[in-house]
Amino acid sequence: MQTLMWTVDKNVDNLETYPQIKEAAQNLKQNEVVAFPTETVYGLGGNAESDEAVLKIFEAKGRPGDNPLIIHIANTEQIHSFVKGIPEQASRLMDAFWPGPLTIILEKKEGTLSEKATAGLSTVAVRMPDHPVALALIEESGLPLAAPSANLSGKPSPTTAAHVADDLTGRISGIVDGGATGVGLESTVVDCTGGIPVILRPGGVTKEQLEEVVGEVSADPALTDEGQAPKAPGMKYRHYAPNSPFYLVDGSKEEIQQLVNEKRNEGQRVGVMTTKENKDFYDANVVKTCGERARLETVAEALYDTLRAFNKEDLDIIFGEIFPEQGVGQAIMNRLSKASGLPIIIK
Ligand code: TXA
Ligand code: MG
Repeated sequence: MQTLMWTVDKNVDNLETYPQIKEAAQNLKQNEVVAFPTETVYGLGGNAESDEAVLKIFEAKGRPGDNPLIIHIANTEQIHSFVKGIPEQASRLMDAFWPGPLTIILEKKEGTLSEKATAGLSTVAVRMPDHPVALALIEESGLPLAAPSANLSGKPSPTTAAHVADDLTGRISGIVDGGATGVGLESTVVDCTGGIPVILRPGGVTKEQLEEVVGEVSADPALTDEGQAPKAPGMKYRHYAPNSPFYLVDGSKEEIQQLVNEKRNEGQRVGVMTTKENKDFYDANVVKTCGERARLETVAEALYDTLRAFNKEDLDIIFGEIFPEQGVGQAIMNRLSKASGLPIIIK
């Protein structure tokens, strides 16, 4: 399959009238799948009402069929055809954070969406992305779009069109290139089907920000206890994995350098993932800088690009610094732990 590339400037007016957007939307209406930018990561969109389109998404990504997709909308009217109702707290969260990096789980109304999109669950995940290209594409297609991150399953999520092309060229109809995404980590997923909202996946909107709007918010115990089964099916899979063993180290830069020296003395090629503050300190085969520790949002923004860049190096082992689990640091540490899949080395 030929994969088309449509380049658009996200800052121009009336994006939905642009030929690139019209062509991409036309593909979506014909149940083809198209990657597009959001403010978090690139998504791989398809008509959420069509089994055919949804199957193409799962196939292109190599995604397990038991992992449901997020339904992307451009206006709140679109929701009513596929949810049973909007509880008070969900409504407040939508007012506060949409469009934006928050996905809300609601009770699903039967009959509209493809059963495959929701993996047969009685609930559905919905979000309104804060990106002019995503919104224009959804508007122009007139469809709710099922869209997981546009990476091969298991790989880091894509934050540029080039990342999408690396993974999915030849497997999808096209890519709308609207430049690099902003947040860099996926949306926060919050379950609003019970009483107190529950965070199933930390992300761009922090727990603290949610609590300012709805009071108490809890977190899925599986986020901190590996013995528990996560409530978001996707959270049980290892993700974002670099090709070499990747160890997070809870220790000083001197202690990390010592680990590097030990491995290099054994003849291994060693990588270090650090931040701007420490980049000149390390002596290793490869040192990569992931944002600036003093501004955690820059770490989030650079995280997946840095993980992907390590995959272009030939290394035996990588050591990474950890981050405080506050604010967006929670989501950063959640993704880093999943990328590592190994116990943290505590010094
Ligand atoms: O920022 C994002 O959310 C990006 C962009 C493209 O919007 N999308 C994204 O989708 O990260 P994906 O498919 O990579 O992750 C969706 C997560 C998975 O962990 C999935 O299991 C969970 O949401 N999820 C979807 N529907 C659910 C439901 N009904 N109940 C619980 N978890 C659900
Ligand atoms: Mg994903």
